[in-house]
Amino acid sequence: MKHLISIADLTRDDVERILDSAAELGEIDEKLPTLEGKLVLSLFFEASTRTASSFELAAKKLSADVISLKAAGSSVEKGESLKDTVLTLAAYEPHAIVVRHPQIGAPELVARYSNAAIVNAGDGRHQHPTQALLDLFTMREALCSGDTARLEGLHVAIVGDVLHSRVARSLVQALALFGARTTLVGPPTLLPRGIEALGCETSTDITAIEAADIVYVLRMQRERMEAAYVPSLREYAARWGITPERIRPGQKVMHPGPINRGVEIDGRVADGPDSLILAQVRSGLAVRMAVLQELLVARRALEVVA
Ligand code: NCD
Repeated sequence: MKHLISIADLTRDDVERILDSAAELGEIDEKLPTLEGKLVLSLFFEASTRTASSFELAAKKLSADVISLKAAGSSVEKGESLKDTVLTLAAYEPHAIVVRHPQIGAPELVARYSNAAIVNAGDGRHQHPTQALLDLFTMREALCSGDTARLEGLHVAIVGDVLHSRVARSLVQALALFGARTTLVGPPTLLPRGIEALGCETSTDITAIEAADIVYVLRMQRERMEAAYVPSLREYAARWGITPERIRPGQKVMHPGPINRGVEIDGRVADGPDSLILAQVRSGLAVRMAVLQELLVARRALEVVA
């Protein structure tokens, strides 16, 4: 595994290995010397709170040097292209580049202009593989006592703006690797045609969430909507919003963040006893440490053997 661009790059064994090392790394408080002398570049051409901060902290906890660049405040604002930005920063010979970009395929382009291991931190509506890994990790810890085999019996309902969601695409594929059952639920305008091919069911009936062990709520991605997909956010909230009345006690609720309180999720659910939202953030750190370690250490070991 040279890069992590899509969940499709991973086998079930790869995912299991990453989740197992995340479990070990999550137990350790101290800084580790694992990536001493390695340079990790973090390039965010789109807004981020959780993903950018957790990658940066993950790299630092493994003793890597880190350069973090956001489009705002960089020469991207002066019109420098992605290619020129990468060629410039590649001169520092980074070992890994973490990239988020609004365009699908941007991580492949970055891979072409550097020798670094590329980690896709979200490209348009396409893929966000580390989010899916941290979500699987969170599910395994919260509902399967850390046992990967038990993911197989799990039923996950993913609710809302599937159309614009790279999180949903990556998560459906990741859950399918473990034989979990996934139902995508939302208004027909926000359920892409043919998405079942990724290994899931779809429903346009909100009561379809009732049977699920986990209700995974997606943000309404207003910044990616060029047309009106729903009559209004108020109406969306009334018909599809996850309120305490729509879930049962013990049914776990997840959301990748950032949440729109009162739109796709009621604040009482987000802050409630069955919410795993902050557990997801904690998992993000351990899983991203595991991913960096997998790409930068395991790879070198393999090269030495070869
Ligand atoms: C997601 C993203 O950026 O795709 N957020 C995240 O990484 N935590 C989901 C979203 O923005 O709605």
